[in-house]
Amino acid sequence: MKGIILAGGSGSRLYPITKVYSKQLTVIYDKPLIYYPLSVLMLGGIREILIISNEETIPFYKQLFNDGSHLGIKIEYAIQAAPKGIAEAFIIGESFIKDESVLLILGDNIFYGSLDFLYKGIKNNDGATIFGYQVTDPERYGIVEFDKDGKVISIEEKPQKPKSNYAVPGIYIYNNEVVEISKNLKPSGRGELEITDVNKEYLNKGNLRVEKIGRGIAWLDTGTPEALLQASNFFGVIEERQGLKVACIEEISFYMKYISKNQFESLIDSIPKSLYRSYLEKVLREY
Ligand code: DAU
Repeated sequence: MKGIILAGGSGSRLYPITKVYSKQLTVIYDKPLIYYPLSVLMLGGIREILIISNEETIPFYKQLFNDGSHLGIKIEYAIQAAPKGIAEAFIIGESFIKDESVLLILGDNIFYGSLDFLYKGIKNNDGATIFGYQVTDPERYGIVEFDKDGKVISIEEKPQKPKSNYAVPGIYIYNNEVVEISKNLKPSGRGELEITDVNKEYLNKGNLRVEKIGRGIAWLDTGTPEALLQASNFFGVIEERQGLKVACIEEISFYMKYISKNQFESLIDSIPKSLYRSYLEKVLREY
């Protein structure tokens, strides 16, 4: 399975934070936001990853991750000329996806907690697998409606009158048909190729699975300055309490055995003296 991180967008809502580069490079506690979704892909066993963003931001991502080989993964990059919709990722990514299935994660979506929901989704997907998460502000998201037996009846993008509180988080698993489906989409009223329209297409074909994510998982919003602060505080509290880092991609690649102990040592050597490096040295010492 291939992985795509969609990490562009206009970011206008967070101006001036996003004047120079896109939102996914802003800091959440002690690392750039994009580390969090990247770590989810890595923990999901996905090692071939395409990062899609605007032309101005791609050089920054390349500086951060290069080709990914130091992490034992392969990272490629592609430009989205303008934010024409989340589903455009599959058109831009067609030659990267080839004939495989694909997991798309939005570069501003943060998940924290047991990732069993994801492992199961990756293992069992045969059409589309998306997730449902209870929120208090459903009008801001894609919303799934279930009948009393838990069967999906409808999906709507940012409904004014939401039919449930179950929002669809920005993590989506699709078989290879998603490329053709995306190519046949018509832009919505706001001029975007909507991911919700992709999901509706799978729903109409009877090929959509929606797994509810329980309250033990934190799906954090990063859409406003308050939300960014809350996310930073959240991870600050957890990291401080446990002495363990969340979304530390170097630790994850070692833990997942994507790199050997020797490679991990050289990776640490390449990192400037910092709290981050001291943490990785501790991980190595305690291994
Ligand atoms: O966060 C989950 C929600 O994401 C879903 O519930 C919605 O169904 C889905 O449409 C999306 O809603 P948003 O309003 O959050 O989408 P937004 O336009 O803010 O884009 C999400 C991220 O993807 C954002 O960081 C920018 C990036 N993006 C977005 C578009 C439309 C791109 O890189 N390119 C794009 O063309």
